[in-house]
Amino acid sequence: MDTKLFEEVDRYIGDLLAPEDKALTESLQSMQEEGMPSISVTANQGKFLQVMATLCRASSILELGTLGGYSTIWMARALPENGRLITIEVDPHHASVAAKNIARAGVSGKVEIRVGSAFDILPAMIDKGEGPFDLVFIDADKPPYAEYFQFALQLSRPGTLLICDNVIREGRVLDAGSTDDRVKGVRRFNKMLSETPGVRAIIVPTVGVKEFDGMALAVVL
Ligand SMILES: C[S@@+](CC[C@H](N)C(=O)[O-])C[C@H]1O[C@@H](n2cnc3c(N)ncnc32)[C@H](O)[C@@H]1O
Repeated sequence: MDTKLFEEVDRYIGDLLAPEDKALTESLQSMQEEGMPSISVTANQGKFLQVMATLCRASSILELGTLGGYSTIWMARALPENGRLITIEVDPHHASVAAKNIARAGVSGKVEIRVGSAFDILPAMIDKGEGPFDLVFIDADKPPYAEYFQFALQLSRPGTLLICDNVIREGRVLDAGSTDDRVKGVRRFNKMLSETPGVRAIIVPTVGVKEFDGMALAVVL
Protein backbone atom coordinates (compact mmCIF):
# COMPACT_ATOMS: atom_id res chain seq x y z
CA MET A 1 0.00 0.00 0.00
CA ASP A 2 1.24 3.49 -0.86
CA THR A 3 0.49 5.09 2.50
CA LYS A 4 2.11 8.38 1.46
CA LEU A 5 -0.34 8.71 -1.42
CA PHE A 6 -3.29 7.90 0.86
CA GLU A 7 -2.13 10.63 3.27
CA GLU A 8 -1.72 13.17 0.47
CA VAL A 9 -5.17 12.40 -0.93
CA ASP A 10 -6.68 12.66 2.56
CA ARG A 11 -5.06 16.11 2.97
CA TYR A 12 -6.28 17.11 -0.50
CA ILE A 13 -9.86 16.20 0.44
CA GLY A 14 -9.53 17.89 3.81
CA ASP A 15 -8.17 21.12 2.35
CA LEU A 16 -11.09 21.23 -0.07
CA LEU A 17 -13.98 20.03 2.06
CA ALA A 18 -13.04 19.68 5.73
CA PRO A 19 -10.88 22.64 6.74
CA GLU A 20 -10.57 22.96 10.51
CA ASP A 21 -11.38 26.27 12.15
CA LYS A 22 -9.49 27.63 15.17
CA ALA A 23 -11.73 25.82 17.68
CA LEU A 24 -11.03 22.44 16.10
CA THR A 25 -7.25 22.94 15.79
CA GLU A 26 -7.14 24.25 19.37
CA SER A 27 -9.07 21.17 20.51
CA LEU A 28 -6.40 18.90 19.07
CA GLN A 29 -3.66 21.11 20.57
CA SER A 30 -5.31 20.99 24.00
CA MET A 31 -5.39 17.19 23.91
CA GLN A 32 -1.68 17.10 23.09
CA GLU A 33 -0.89 19.56 25.89
CA GLU A 34 -2.94 17.47 28.33
CA GLY A 35 -1.10 14.28 27.34
CA MET A 36 -4.21 12.64 25.92
CA PRO A 37 -3.95 9.97 23.22
CA SER A 38 -4.11 11.09 19.62
CA ILE A 39 -7.09 8.92 18.72
CA SER A 40 -9.72 11.43 17.63
CA VAL A 41 -11.35 10.94 14.25
CA THR A 42 -9.58 12.80 11.43
CA ALA A 43 -10.94 16.05 10.01
CA ASN A 44 -12.35 14.21 7.00
CA GLN A 45 -14.01 11.64 9.24
CA GLY A 46 -15.42 14.47 11.38
CA LYS A 47 -16.86 16.03 8.23
CA PHE A 48 -18.18 12.61 7.20
CA LEU A 49 -20.03 12.36 10.54
CA GLN A 50 -21.36 15.89 9.99
CA VAL A 51 -22.63 14.98 6.51
CA MET A 52 -24.30 11.86 7.95
CA ALA A 53 -25.96 13.95 10.68
CA THR A 54 -27.23 16.33 8.01
CA LEU A 55 -28.41 13.45 5.83
CA CYS A 56 -30.56 12.05 8.65
CA ARG A 57 -31.67 15.56 9.64
CA ALA A 58 -30.48 14.70 13.13
CA SER A 59 -31.78 16.75 15.99
CA SER A 60 -30.70 14.23 18.63
CA ILE A 61 -27.30 12.54 18.61
CA LEU A 62 -25.75 10.07 21.04
CA GLU A 63 -21.99 9.59 21.16
CA LEU A 64 -20.02 6.96 23.10
CA GLY A 65 -16.43 8.08 23.73
CA THR A 66 -15.89 11.85 23.89
CA LEU A 67 -12.11 12.11 24.39
CA GLY A 68 -11.42 15.84 23.83
CA GLY A 69 -14.71 16.54 22.06
CA TYR A 70 -13.30 16.72 18.52
CA SER A 71 -15.90 14.46 16.85
CA THR A 72 -18.53 15.93 19.18
CA ILE A 73 -17.88 19.42 17.79
CA TRP A 74 -18.10 18.26 14.17
CA MET A 75 -21.44 16.53 14.80
CA ALA A 76 -22.91 19.23 17.06
CA ARG A 77 -22.33 21.77 14.30
CA ALA A 78 -24.80 19.84 12.12
CA LEU A 79 -27.57 20.16 14.71
CA PRO A 80 -30.43 22.62 14.36
CA GLU A 81 -30.84 25.39 16.96
CA ASN A 82 -32.91 23.17 19.28
CA GLY A 83 -30.78 20.07 18.61
CA ARG A 84 -29.11 18.05 21.33
CA LEU A 85 -26.07 15.79 21.56
CA ILE A 86 -25.34 13.56 24.55
CA THR A 87 -21.77 12.28 24.73
CA ILE A 88 -20.59 9.67 27.23
CA GLU A 89 -17.02 9.62 28.56
CA VAL A 90 -15.60 7.41 31.31
CA ASP A 91 -12.47 9.48 32.01
CA PRO A 92 -13.21 12.67 34.01
CA HIS A 93 -10.00 14.33 32.76
CA HIS A 94 -11.01 13.73 29.13
CA ALA A 95 -14.49 15.02 29.91
CA SER A 96 -13.18 18.24 31.46
CA VAL A 97 -10.85 18.95 28.51
CA ALA A 98 -13.76 18.19 26.15
CA ALA A 99 -16.07 20.58 28.02
CA LYS A 100 -13.61 23.45 27.46
CA ASN A 101 -13.17 22.58 23.78
CA ILE A 102 -16.91 22.28 23.22
CA ALA A 103 -17.44 25.67 24.89
CA ARG A 104 -14.70 27.25 22.78
CA ALA A 105 -16.43 25.89 19.66
CA GLY A 106 -19.65 27.60 20.75
CA VAL A 107 -21.77 24.44 20.92
CA SER A 108 -21.98 23.80 24.67
CA GLY A 109 -25.66 24.82 24.63
CA LYS A 110 -26.39 21.76 22.51
CA VAL A 111 -24.02 19.27 24.11
CA GLU A 112 -24.28 17.37 27.38
CA ILE A 113 -21.30 15.33 28.56
CA ARG A 114 -22.21 12.40 30.81
CA VAL A 115 -19.26 11.17 32.81
CA GLY A 116 -19.20 7.45 33.50
CA SER A 117 -18.98 4.15 31.68
CA ALA A 118 -21.26 3.71 28.69
CA PHE A 119 -21.82 0.21 30.04
CA ASP A 120 -23.67 1.69 33.05
CA ILE A 121 -25.08 4.85 31.51
CA LEU A 122 -26.77 3.24 28.48
CA PRO A 123 -28.96 0.77 30.46
CA ALA A 124 -29.93 3.64 32.79
CA MET A 125 -30.94 5.74 29.77
CA ILE A 126 -33.04 2.84 28.44
CA ASP A 127 -34.72 2.42 31.84
CA LYS A 128 -35.53 6.13 31.92
CA GLY A 129 -37.08 5.94 28.44
CA GLU A 130 -34.57 8.35 26.89
CA GLY A 131 -34.28 8.57 23.10
CA PRO A 132 -34.92 7.70 20.41
CA PHE A 133 -31.82 9.27 18.88
CA ASP A 134 -31.53 10.08 15.19
CA LEU A 135 -27.82 9.25 15.05
CA VAL A 136 -25.59 7.20 17.33
CA PHE A 137 -21.79 7.27 17.07
CA ILE A 138 -20.03 4.43 18.92
CA ASP A 139 -16.34 5.22 19.51
CA ALA A 140 -15.59 4.08 23.08
CA ASP A 141 -13.69 0.97 24.26
CA LYS A 142 -13.80 -1.84 21.71
CA PRO A 143 -14.32 -5.09 23.72
CA PRO A 144 -18.02 -4.38 24.49
CA TYR A 145 -18.92 -2.95 21.04
CA ALA A 146 -21.55 -5.69 20.50
CA GLU A 147 -23.24 -4.82 23.80
CA TYR A 148 -23.04 -1.08 23.08
CA PHE A 149 -24.72 -1.66 19.73
CA GLN A 150 -27.53 -3.66 21.33
CA PHE A 151 -28.06 -0.91 23.93
CA ALA A 152 -27.99 1.71 21.19
CA LEU A 153 -30.65 -0.19 19.24
CA GLN A 154 -32.93 0.17 22.24
CA LEU A 155 -32.39 3.94 22.07
CA SER A 156 -33.23 4.02 18.35
CA ARG A 157 -36.22 4.18 16.04
CA PRO A 158 -36.73 3.10 12.42
CA GLY A 159 -34.40 5.32 10.41
CA THR A 160 -31.82 5.83 13.15
CA LEU A 161 -28.27 5.64 11.81
CA LEU A 162 -25.68 3.90 13.97
CA ILE A 163 -21.99 4.44 13.13
CA CYS A 164 -19.28 2.39 14.84
CA ASP A 165 -15.65 3.38 14.38
CA ASN A 166 -12.45 1.30 14.24
CA VAL A 167 -13.93 -2.04 13.22
CA ILE A 168 -11.16 -3.09 10.80
CA ARG A 169 -8.01 -2.27 12.81
CA GLU A 170 -5.45 -2.28 10.00
CA GLY A 171 -6.88 -5.55 8.72
CA ARG A 172 -6.08 -7.34 11.97
CA VAL A 173 -9.80 -8.11 12.12
CA LEU A 174 -9.08 -10.91 9.63
CA ASP A 175 -7.08 -12.80 12.28
CA ALA A 176 -9.46 -15.26 13.93
CA GLY A 177 -6.71 -16.22 16.38
CA SER A 178 -5.94 -12.68 17.56
CA THR A 179 -5.41 -12.32 21.29
CA ASP A 180 -5.87 -8.51 21.16
CA ASP A 181 -9.04 -7.71 23.14
CA ARG A 182 -9.86 -4.83 20.79
CA VAL A 183 -9.61 -7.03 17.70
CA LYS A 184 -11.62 -9.75 19.44
CA GLY A 185 -14.24 -7.15 20.43
CA VAL A 186 -14.72 -5.78 16.92
CA ARG A 187 -14.67 -9.26 15.36
CA ARG A 188 -17.49 -10.25 17.73
CA PHE A 189 -19.28 -6.99 16.92
CA ASN A 190 -18.93 -7.37 13.13
CA LYS A 191 -20.29 -10.94 13.26
CA MET A 192 -23.18 -9.85 15.48
CA LEU A 193 -23.93 -6.97 13.10
CA SER A 194 -24.11 -9.41 10.17
CA GLU A 195 -26.64 -11.50 12.11
CA THR A 196 -28.79 -8.67 13.51
CA PRO A 197 -32.25 -8.61 11.94
CA GLY A 198 -33.92 -5.25 11.44
CA VAL A 199 -30.87 -3.28 10.36
CA ARG A 200 -29.32 -2.66 6.94
CA ALA A 201 -25.56 -2.46 7.48
CA ILE A 202 -22.20 -2.18 5.76
CA ILE A 203 -18.60 -1.52 6.76
CA VAL A 204 -16.82 1.30 4.93
CA PRO A 205 -13.01 0.94 4.94
CA THR A 206 -11.20 4.16 5.91
CA VAL A 207 -7.72 5.11 4.82
CA GLY A 208 -5.81 8.37 5.01
CA VAL A 209 -3.65 10.24 7.51
CA LYS A 210 -4.49 7.68 10.20
CA GLU A 211 -4.09 3.92 10.08
CA PHE A 212 -6.19 1.75 7.76
CA ASP A 213 -9.47 1.07 9.53
CA GLY A 214 -13.21 1.01 8.93
CA MET A 215 -16.56 2.39 10.08
CA ALA A 216 -19.67 0.24 10.33
CA LEU A 217 -22.88 1.98 9.27
CA ALA A 218 -26.27 0.49 10.19
CA VAL A 219 -29.73 1.90 9.56
CA VAL A 220 -32.61 0.64 11.68
CA LEU A 221 -35.41 -0.66 9.44
C1 LIG B 1 -11.34 6.83 20.41
S1 LIG B 1 -11.59 7.85 21.81
C2 LIG B 1 -12.96 8.85 21.29
C3 LIG B 1 -12.58 9.81 20.23
C4 LIG B 1 -13.64 10.84 19.92
N1 LIG B 1 -14.90 10.21 19.58
C5 LIG B 1 -13.19 11.69 18.75
O1 LIG B 1 -13.15 11.14 17.63
O2 LIG B 1 -12.86 12.87 18.96
C6 LIG B 1 -12.34 6.78 22.96
C7 LIG B 1 -12.79 7.43 24.25
O3 LIG B 1 -13.67 6.51 24.90
C8 LIG B 1 -13.45 6.60 26.28
N2 LIG B 1 -13.95 5.36 26.91
C9 LIG B 1 -13.28 4.21 27.11
N3 LIG B 1 -14.06 3.32 27.74
C10 LIG B 1 -15.25 3.92 27.92
C11 LIG B 1 -16.48 3.51 28.52
N4 LIG B 1 -16.61 2.29 29.04
N5 LIG B 1 -17.50 4.38 28.54
C12 LIG B 1 -17.36 5.63 28.00
N6 LIG B 1 -16.22 6.07 27.44
C13 LIG B 1 -15.18 5.22 27.40
C14 LIG B 1 -11.96 6.81 26.41
O4 LIG B 1 -11.63 7.38 27.67
C15 LIG B 1 -11.69 7.75 25.23
O5 LIG B 1 -11.75 9.08 25.64
